[in-house]
Amino acid sequence: MEEPIILGIESSCDDTGAAILRNGHVLSNIIANQEIHKKYGGVVPELASRAHQQNIVPVVEMALKSAGIKKQEINGIAYTRGPGLLGSLLVGSSFAKGLSMGLKVPLLEINHMEAHVHALFIEGSNINESNIGEKPEFPFLCLTVSGGHTQIVLVHRHNKMEILGETTDDAAGECFDKAAKNLGLPYPGGPLIDQYSKNGDPLKYKFPRPAVPGYDYSFSGLKTAFLYFLKAESEKDPEFIRNNMSDLTASIQHTIITYLIKNLKKASEDHGIKNVGIAGGVAANSHLRQLLKREEKVSGWKIFIPKLEFCTDNAAMIAISGHFKYLNKEFSTVYGSPMARFK
Ligand code: KG4
Ligand code: ZN
Repeated sequence: MEEPIILGIESSCDDTGAAILRNGHVLSNIIANQEIHKKYGGVVPELASRAHQQNIVPVVEMALKSAGIKKQEINGIAYTRGPGLLGSLLVGSSFAKGLSMGLKVPLLEINHMEAHVHALFIEGSNINESNIGEKPEFPFLCLTVSGGHTQIVLVHRHNKMEILGETTDDAAGECFDKAAKNLGLPYPGGPLIDQYSKNGDPLKYKFPRPAVPGYDYSFSGLKTAFLYFLKAESEKDPEFIRNNMSDLTASIQHTIITYLIKNLKKASEDHGIKNVGIAGGVAANSHLRQLLKREEKVSGWKIFIPKLEFCTDNAAMIAISGHFKYLNKEFSTVYGSPMARFK
């Protein structure tokens, strides 16, 4: 099969996604966002699984229709086995298994975190203007930053990724979301912090960056320090947050982003690798992109930035991971149960 058609299914958290790729080119990439969680200020796992059940059939049908593909033309079905919320993963994996048996096509189980990295290989994904459309050469480093994970990954090959460092507690995205919540902003607060920061002074307030050995991260101390700072200042001036929103968001954002880049730089220097990609929802952050661009000149890095739709959770990244597995004939059985933690 020279140009495999792969259906990708993503259901690890609160978005139901289906995508069709032909030979690594995206023909369709459909995502159904679950609005219900906004009311609760975070994802409610049981509500997420129920919404996946409602969404999965129409989302897959829409992906097929908008790709102009009949289901009989699919050559392989890729699905997220983990990590993620167990109930949510169950919906996508059961659907994928049923469909692969019905169509008699190979099943391809995918690690959601590796899929975020693989988003860099989708045709036309890289939007960094200095090397637009180019794919990273091996080996490269990838900073994978999302609502649930923070990792520095050394990517040797498509199927050999080494985690050099990761968070020991909260994820970077979670830190953004919790900081936003403490500022009275709705969930998910990361994009709002990014937006409010545009007119703020990133150096106005200083917050501690925890020292963790190696390339690991810790965000829980920073989260607490920010909360206590806001409480103390608000006691003195009840309008403190409202009057200083831009500087507060810019300062917490700057602290998180410079902390992320510090370990990434250390990993780059220690391993002598200058090809650097970013992935995951926080990769959408404009300050991260801006500071990384600076490293192109300062450190001679070659940066790879996936299009926004491939940064946040999506099924195209699951399908491209499936594409590489399909070419390698790394097929899965239907006996692989979903894994909340999956390495
Ligand atoms: O990868 P993703 O869509 O879902 C997970 O697998 O978690 O990442 C979602 C996370 C949320 O924490 C959200 O606040 C954060 O990505 N995020 C951002 C931005 N856009 C999304 N954080 C900072 N700046 C942004 N522009
Ligand atoms: Zn994700």
